[in-house]
Amino acid sequence: MKRISDQMEDLLNRQMTREAYQAQVYLAYGAWAEANSFPGIATFLYGHMQEEREHMFKILKYILDRGGEVKVEALNAAPACPTNIGDCLQHILQHEIENSKQIDKIVRLAHDESDWATFNFGQWFVQEQIEEETLINGVIDKYNLASTQIGGNHNLYEFDKDLASASQEATTARDETLE
Ligand code: FEO
Repeated sequence: MKRISDQMEDLLNRQMTREAYQAQVYLAYGAWAEANSFPGIATFLYGHMQEEREHMFKILKYILDRGGEVKVEALNAAPACPTNIGDCLQHILQHEIENSKQIDKIVRLAHDESDWATFNFGQWFVQEQIEEETLINGVIDKYNLASTQIGGNHNLYEFDKDLASASQEATTARDETLE
């Protein structure tokens, strides 16, 4: 028996497709970074592509858990190649902010419908989006430092190496303690 509304089922399916699209964005930008001799940034972006696919799968499983029907649909084409690393990171941040707004729609509808199961499920994504926006903002800060100091090319080289082993998770306010 289905335990989500038709409207929620539709919204969750659209979000599943949206997460798959997010993965395409990271895939395309990762390939662009690799082609432009930034292997560390490419590794970081490919790693995040995997995270987005996990998000997609998490939503797929949730729809099935609630007795809904999964609809796997066509993806939009990935965006055009960025013009440089700064442009690449800004586009990624915009995609994440837009994705957060879509997650908010799920949580808002769940609240309006008193669908507390989906409301609870949505909270995981709310937290994940806080982390992702924080993570990308942090990478942008590092890029700005690396690209504005004297000897910019050398610093970009270090920035690229640094990102190859960078975590895919950010520490957010929820994780902080004063111990
Ligand atoms: Fe799954 Fe980066 O949003």
